[in-house]
Amino acid sequence: MAYVLAVANQKGGVGKTTTAVNLAANLATGKRRVMLVDLDPQGNATSSLGIDKQNIPVSMYDVLLAGQDVANAVLETNRPNLFLLPALPDLAQAELDLVHQQRREYTLQRLLAKVDAEVVIIDCPPALGLLTVNALTAADAVLIPVQAEYFALEGLSQLLQTIQLVKSGLNAKLEIFGVVLTMYTKRTLLSDQVKSEVTQHFGNKLFETVIPRNIRLAEAPSYGKTIQEHDKWSKGARAYKALAKEVVHRANI
Ligand SMILES: Nc1ncnc2c1ncn2[C@@H]1O[C@H](COP(=O)(O)OP(=O)(O)O)[C@@H](O)[C@H]1O
Ligand SMILES: [Mg+2]
Repeated sequence: MAYVLAVANQKGGVGKTTTAVNLAANLATGKRRVMLVDLDPQGNATSSLGIDKQNIPVSMYDVLLAGQDVANAVLETNRPNLFLLPALPDLAQAELDLVHQQRREYTLQRLLAKVDAEVVIIDCPPALGLLTVNALTAADAVLIPVQAEYFALEGLSQLLQTIQLVKSGLNAKLEIFGVVLTMYTKRTLLSDQVKSEVTQHFGNKLFETVIPRNIRLAEAPSYGKTIQEHDKWSKGARAYKALAKEVVHRANI
């Protein structure tokens, strides 16, 4: 069985996709077979890897709800060891259609059991609906990106509550893998305040690696490139490389 990590936070724009994509890419360079699962109907992870959405025969909606074999949806990404289960806008409908499924929270878990990979990274949508609950039910652990800004912790209690509910009812092994600060601006009062607040709440769950605000990270998806491919010497690239190291260490994978 693969080690499954869900990247979740119901706030949009906090760096979930950037973290999922670049973490997956970094882990894949270490010879592990990595499957990135795009679970957001916006399909940003899919585009970020340079996949042409006009050209996707089978995607996450089809495997979750239309009985397609998951193997038919797996895309190669032209990067060794990095594979993708892509998302298209029709995945938004899954949020509604899953409601009628038996054991609806376990749908993704059942699919992932058939996936050939050592590590699975799930890029969650910005909501706490059934898609995210499916991700948390399928996951060994959840990684929470938190943007270093005002109100950073607002809404996190809802996420933590959802994680607790999933843990107590659906997936007892689920744990909080870690919290990573994103879009951090060095030596500003605000960033420092957010950091100490997050440390107070999460203690050693906070990753030592902090992801800086870095324009290269924002540019890379528009070229369909990971940060390593776009500018491997950038601060963003170095940060995600360091984060991947920490993840490997913590997960013991
Ligand atoms: N560390 C960063 N520095 C600069 N821009 C970033 C950084 N992380 C993410 N971004 C940009 O911020 C936006 C939101 O990030 P994204 O990863 O898509 O968040 P989410 O998936 O949580 O909605 C995107 O345009 C992304 O390119
Ligand atoms: Mg996203």
